Amino acid sequence: MVSLTACNQEQSKNNQSSASASPKQVFSNNCSSCHGEQLQGGMGPDISKVGERYSAKEIAAIIEHGQGQMPPQNQLEAKDREKLAQWLAQKK
Ligand code: HEC
Repeated sequence: MVSLTACNQEQSKNNQSSASASPKQVFSNNCSSCHGEQLQGGMGPDISKVGERYSAKEIAAIIEHGQGQMPPQNQLEAKDREKLAQWLAQKK
């Protein structure tokens, strides 16, 4: 019997893991489709001055749980979420 058990799961190309992704990159990958590359808004609201309205903690909660029309973005790792929330909280 010829065995075709190719058990290689091609996951070794991950040299650039998300360990050091900048908040801007995380935003670009996960949020910009709705909030725009410059945070200017689109399908979602303008969040370029979101730090005036929310603390980092509140923003992290919105990312984790979603809000209104925004679906929860719980694909983000906690540490990326924290970094992103802090970055956004400084936007004012
Ligand atoms: C599928 C589209 C979509 C994605 C993806 C998305 N959002 Fe949103 N976001 C929305 C919408 C729509 C709202 C308005 C929600 C409401 O209050 O009805 C919103 C609201 C917000 C708010 C609150 C704004 C305010 O003034 O009340 C923040 C902060 C926010 N999003 C951050 C993010 C971040 C950070 C990400 C990425 C991790 C993200 N969003 C991804 C659609 C999206």
